[in-house]
Order: sequence, then C-alpha cells, then structure tokens
Amino acid sequence: LSHRILAISGSPSAKSSGTRLIEHVLTHVPQERFDCDTLRLAELDANALIRADTAEPSISAAVRAVAAAEGLIVVTPIYKAAYSGLLKCFLDLLPQFGLAGKAVMPLATGGSVAHLLSLDYGLRPVLQSMGVRHVVQSVLVTAPQMRVDGETLRLDAQGEEMLAAGLEHFLATVEGKGYRSIFGHPMPFSRATG
Ligand SMILES: Cc1cc2nc3c(=O)[nH]c(=O)nc-3n(C[C@H](O)[C@H](O)[C@H](O)COP(=O)(O)O)c2cc1C
Repeated sequence: LSHRILAISGSPSAKSSGTRLIEHVLTHVPQERFDCDTLRLAELDANALIRADTAEPSISAAVRAVAAAEGLIVVTPIYKAAYSGLLKCFLDLLPQFGLAGKAVMPLATGGSVAHLLSLDYGLRPVLQSMGVRHVVQSVLVTAPQMRVDGETLRLDAQGEEMLAAGLEHFLATVEGKGYRSIFGHPMPFSRATG
C-alpha cells in the first residue's frame, strides 16, 4: 500500500525555482512506496483564493488533495524574510485542523541563508496550529546552490546532501518508521530503524 504525498508549491512565479525543486525532490521518492502529486497554488483561481471561496472548483479540488495526503512537502520562496503570502492565503482557507495527523516537510528557496529561520519561526507554528502530527526539519536551498540546466534543476553537493537527509527523515515519518539519524546525528532510540 503506497502512502500519498502532496507537494505544494507556494510561489506565484511561472518559472519558479521552488516548483523545479519539487520536481527534483520527487525524482528521489521511491514510486513503489509513495504516490506523489503536485499542487501549484499559482494555478488556482486567484479571485476565489483571495475570497476563500472553497466552493470554487480549483479550490475545492486543492482542499480535497490536502485532505487525502498523509505527507505534505510545503515549498515556498522566502519573500520579505517570510514564507509567501500565496501560501498563507491557501493555508487560511483550509479547515482549522486541516493538517491533523499529517507529516510535513517545510522546504524553501531563498536568495541566501539570511532568512533560514523564518521557516521555523514563521511557518512551523502555523502548521503546528493546524494539527500536524510531525513537522520534520526544514530545508532551505539558496540561489547559489541551484543551477537551472535547460528545464532541469541541479543542486550543488551541499544542497543535495541537505535535501537527501531532510527527505529521508520526512519519508520515514510518513511511513511511521523510526530513523537511524537526523541530518547525520544518530537517534538515541534502540527502536530506530532504517
Ligand atoms: C518579492 C520578493 C521578495 C524576496 N525577499 C527575499 C528575502 O527576504 N530573503 C531572501 O533570502 N530572498 C528573497 N527573495 C528571493 C527569493 O526568495 C528567491 O529568488 C527564491 O528562490 C524565489 O523562489 P521561486 O522562484 O520559487 O519563486 C525575494 C524575492 C522576491 C521576488
């Protein structure tokens, strides 16, 4: 039985590095164990989104996709030292405990590491307030770590390593498994498994 993962892109831009990052991340998710889908918030009906009209078809489909997912990869650009307003608009129209029981991996693209903690100080409490089971370690990928090669996103070795470690932690959490380490630091529990 495969676990359902929804990757949400919170960037308003058409050629978003975050959306490319999602494609890149999803190529590292084993397809036999996970069923992955992507939701680009910029493609939702903008008027309905602003008015929190959950009856509008694109919005109601998005809300259902969130409800059906066991794990969410929430991807945002860092804007003005915070996550995007587009992402907040969407989170605000979900039910109060619309993330109950889910595992979430916060992922951001930013100009530099200057605003790395905004994921933990800004986004994490919002997710937590919506009932998530576990928000795993956040990962920020910076512009100097990314290179677009045609339509493909390439990361430098450090970016790749951070992403792989974060993803491993997230996937183990979605599957309800223990894990041997978090970002290279061993877990102190004997029940931890790979
Ligand atoms: C309006 C705006 C505000 C931004 N503010 C910040 C910021 O405060 N800190 C930062 O590191 N990068 C900032 N950036 C850079 C973006 O985070 C970066 O370009 C990101 O990779 C864009 O992701 P996207 O292509 O998925 O939209 C900003 C970009 C824009 C357009």
